[in-house]
Formats: sequence, C-alpha cells, structure tokens
Amino acid sequence: MSAVSSGTAALHLGVRAAGVQAGDEVVTSPFSFVASANSVVYEGARPVFCDIDPRTLNIDPEAAAAAVGERTAGLLPVHIFGYPADLAAIEQTARTHGLWIVEDACEALGAQHHDGRAVGARGNLATFGFYANKQLTTGEGGVLVSPSAEMKARVDSERNQGRAPDMDWLDHDRLGFNYRLSDLACALGIAQVERLDEMLAARARVAGLYEQALAGVEVSSCRVPTPGATGVAGSSTSSSFRRRSTATTRSRRCARVASTPSRTCRPST
Ligand SMILES: Cc1ncc(COP(=O)(O)O)c(C=O)c1O
Repeated sequence: MSAVSSGTAALHLGVRAAGVQAGDEVVTSPFSFVASANSVVYEGARPVFCDIDPRTLNIDPEAAAAAVGERTAGLLPVHIFGYPADLAAIEQTARTHGLWIVEDACEALGAQHHDGRAVGARGNLATFGFYANKQLTTGEGGVLVSPSAEMKARVDSERNQGRAPDMDWLDHDRLGFNYRLSDLACALGIAQVERLDEMLAARARVAGLYEQALAGVEVSSCRVPTPGATGVAGSSTSSSFRRRSTATTRSRRCARVASTPSRTCRPST
C-alpha cells in the first residue's frame, strides 16, 4: 500500500502501474468524479464509457464486456457512493480478454463485497481517496493498493520524483511525480484508521436520518445494491440523494421553491 497526495494521484499511478499505453482504451463508468477518466487521459489513452446499472449506479458488467474492443487494455470500475461494484463479473471479463483492472474505490473505504472481502482487497490495483468529504480524511490524500511488490516499488518511486529504490536524494532512475503524502497528513489518517468503525457507524446514522427526513419525498435512496454486499455511506450522502432524484421531481420541486418569495432555484445538473 502506498500513501499518495490524492485519490487522483493514486488513480494516475495505478493506471501507469497497470501498464496503460498511449492509444489504449480503458472501459470505465460515466457516472463518477472526473478524476476516474482523467487518469486515463493523462497517459494519452482513451476512456470508453459503458452504461451503468440504474439500481446500483455502478458499471453494468454486461455493458462493460460489450464495450471491450480491439484496443481495450483495461477496466476501471468505480465503487460509487460507497457501494461495491460487481467485481466478480468484471474480473471474469478481464480474464476472458486479458485486461488489467484498476478499481476506483475512492468513495468506498470500509465497504465489503457480498463474499465478505473488503473493497480494494481482491488482488487488483485499487485506489482510495482521503479528501475532506471521504470516510476518512487527511485534507487531501489517498492510497494505492498494489497487488505485487514489483508494482509497489514502481509506485513508491513514481510518487517520489522517480527516485531509485534506495530513495537517495538526487538518485532518480525514472520519470516521477511529486505525489507524496506528508507525514503530518499520514498522522491524521492513522489516527482515524484506529476509529474507522466508529466513524463509519456515525455516517450510517446520518444516512439513516436523511432517509427518514426524505421518506415522504419523491427521491430514491441508495441502498445496498448487490445482494449480501455492504456499502458505506458515500462521499456525500446528501449528493447521493440529490443526484438520484429524477429530472421531473427536480423541476416540480424547483417550481415549488421558485414560487416561494425571496428564494431562487436552478435545476441541479
Ligand atoms: C470516485 C472518485 N474518484 C476519484 C476521486 C479523486 O480523489 P481526489 O479528490 O482525492 O483527487 C474522487 C474524489 O472526489 C472520487 O469521488
């Protein structure tokens, strides 16, 4: 595991460690934060968006398989709003076509797949983000989980200006970045890891409060999508409710609010 300066940095180093090349195509979700797709574009590769499952809002494994073409090199599933994507099915597609996988678990620290495995612990490259709206925060920060010592060594070098394995001050043996996470930020993160369960439970309580408060409102809440999987309240509980409300509901609500004196309302995008 390598601590890095953001979830975006983790994704960037992740696709590089996976071996992405300019001109490659990478199948991913169109329903994510922009960094998932950007990480691929940084390397001159092309994100190919496939449809998502309307129940889970995560990549639809069948649509992902159908999007695989001659230039496809990898799959980049996202565990959106803290709920696990169907990795077993996605891994099957990867095996069939010889593709790599980088999991964007930036919003899903603490979530579990239906087989009990923690999100990010399936042996794929996997990324977590520690921005201020995440389950655990270091202000800015992230982690990249590497499945092999060889990949981890490459990631550790690239996050640290391409330094050679001895990490000597002026000993650089590859192209690198300044994607380090400071010791201060790490100290903040480690203290939160020690009480992660408590923090996840507090988030789940807040999600429950939203659900109660919105019980009479025409929005669909995000619930555990895959039978047996355990989600964590996502990076922004309120935004998950907002984004799942339908366009019709939004327009109706906007009309109602607009008719109230001294308030303005724009349909959310
Ligand atoms: C799904 C997803 N991927 C990637 C990122 C990027 O993380 P960061 O903001 O730490 O760079 C985020 C953060 O919002 C995210 O939600």
